[in-house]
Amino acid sequence: MSALVQVRDLARDYSMGSGPVHALRGVSFDVEQGEWVAIVGPSGCGKSTLLNLLGAVDSPDAGSLTIAGERVDRLDDRAATTFRLRRIGFVFQRFYLMPALTAAENIELPMAEARIVRTERRARVQELLGYVGLAGRADHRPSQLSGGEQQRVAIARALANKPALLLADEPTGELDAATGLEMIDLFRRLNRDGTTIVVVTHDAQMAAAAARRIQMRDGAIIAEAVT
Ligand SMILES: Nc1ncnc2c1ncn2[C@@H]1O[C@H](COP(=O)(O)OP(=O)(O)O)[C@@H](O)[C@H]1O
Ligand SMILES: [Mg+2]
Repeated sequence: MSALVQVRDLARDYSMGSGPVHALRGVSFDVEQGEWVAIVGPSGCGKSTLLNLLGAVDSPDAGSLTIAGERVDRLDDRAATTFRLRRIGFVFQRFYLMPALTAAENIELPMAEARIVRTERRARVQELLGYVGLAGRADHRPSQLSGGEQQRVAIARALANKPALLLADEPTGELDAATGLEMIDLFRRLNRDGTTIVVVTHDAQMAAAAARRIQMRDGAIIAEAVT
């Protein structure tokens, strides 16, 4: 069976007035179903650029990307939007919850976009709130939640449509150390329960918790380590 994620010679240049920025210079690796991979490296080395390609938020200038059998690099905008909604869960450093919506409504939103019927949506929201330990916070707005609680809501939202792949860009970057450790525990549980995770992180403990680390520098992979 082929790997869940197949990255081949992916390249991405940004054109700037001062000339092109070679953010990714030809990156190749596989991620197997059920794996937990951390991507590490100094600021500016291309980690977020790579994650945005994996999440079909952006498209590469060269190379190929296959996720769950689909050639993601060949999707047009509309197909990419559908692919993201149904196959990818994305968690960001700054949570990006909708401020006017409650925790439950934030989690429900991607299911509504995917046209899941209301009764099923509501049941899954309750299940997800319980899973991330926020059963008592359903009606809180983001401003009425701690940073760690907001990130838990964001994770529940990312899981709403049962994605094939969970992507996280510095998910503990805005959290204090103790809350960061709770987040690592949650990722550990998610992975144990079968979620395939690719996480970009500066957090040494988050990186160590992943079974595999890919180290980048200057738009390329320079090393890999497996626990
Ligand atoms: N939208 C953009 N336009 C132009 N340059 C960008 C853009 N996004 C990132 N870059 C540049 O691409 C390189 C890689 O950035 P990024 O992937 O964000 O790195 P990292 O996430 O590892 O810090 C950096 O040199 C950055 O300045
Ligand atoms: Mg980044």
